[in-house]
Amino acid sequence: MKMAAVTCIAPVNIAVIKYWGKKDEKLIIPLNDSLSGTLSMDQMHAKTTVMASPNFKKNCIWLNGKEESFENARLLACLKEIQRRAEQNEANKELLQWNVHVCSENNFPTAAGLASSAAGYACFVYALAKLYNVRGDVSQIARQGSGSACRSLEGGFVRWHAGSAPDGSDSLATQVVPETHWPEMRVLILVVNDSKKKVSSTSGMQRAVETSDLLKHRVVHCVPERIAAIEKAIRNKDFPTFAEITMKDSNQFHAVALDTYPPAVYMNDVSHAIVDLIHCLNEVKGSPKVAYTFDAGPNACLYLLEPAVAETLALVNHFLPGPNSQENAIQGIPVVPVNAQ
Ligand code: PMV
Repeated sequence: MKMAAVTCIAPVNIAVIKYWGKKDEKLIIPLNDSLSGTLSMDQMHAKTTVMASPNFKKNCIWLNGKEESFENARLLACLKEIQRRAEQNEANKELLQWNVHVCSENNFPTAAGLASSAAGYACFVYALAKLYNVRGDVSQIARQGSGSACRSLEGGFVRWHAGSAPDGSDSLATQVVPETHWPEMRVLILVVNDSKKKVSSTSGMQRAVETSDLLKHRVVHCVPERIAAIEKAIRNKDFPTFAEITMKDSNQFHAVALDTYPPAVYMNDVSHAIVDLIHCLNEVKGSPKVAYTFDAGPNACLYLLEPAVAETLALVNHFLPGPNSQENAIQGIPVVPVNAQ
């Protein structure tokens, strides 16, 4: 049987300067630059196989074992754009006639504010690019699946440049430093709740753009300075500055969510208990040793350096509810090195 198949793995990325709000909904062009760390391949990731065959009657996709509709504007936008680029290579002539089957699995909770769509779309686009041998930057294509996906195509720390071109051609992700730059960097993921988030990032962002004055202030007066300062801190391996900016940006993102009308509430009481605990720890130590950041959900991501891991884990396990206690229990705390791709 004639067929072509590729399997890829793409890791999750955790933003330290958050993307929230689009200037172009369809092309997914963000209002502001954002910056994230990409986790290592062997930890939280999406694994995707794309197959093309003349025997496939239509395009199909299975997500975590369940068939989903391919009639999804973002999925189709990514597929069409990769295929458009693939047409430039004569060798793809036959392959491009065939339908594709896509099978993707996450090894962590989907849609619980744990960047599952980022890893999923990065993997989908990367696997398609490999299938058709498409070269060059594909982060602009992954961005059109899920904005933050463009940052999962590189390891280390990665910046997504909002860009200024109306067609989005300069809205792409570039590596700030490779995974080898800061080998002591770690991320702890505290899974507070792994159920699906209440307000999707798409609608949360839309509503924020329409109603939040704080978002307008953030985009113009806060993010540009923060991006420059955190890039410098990363290059200089200045953890206290990195940590302070990371925590302030997470807090401001959630303040924007609350400033949205009606408000979008992503953090819960356990999330706030984690924030208090980290501030207590940092105060006792005299300078920040751990930084928290929360995406569109209650789960905490803690950035810290290797020497702080054991003590932080001990504190978290001591002060926060155990796995069996209640709905908000912390269910698992993998230690994830952020730097080794
Ligand atoms: O890429 P999306 O649409 O899932 O949005 C991600 C938004 C945040 O995770 C909250 C922030 C970010 O920059 O990753």
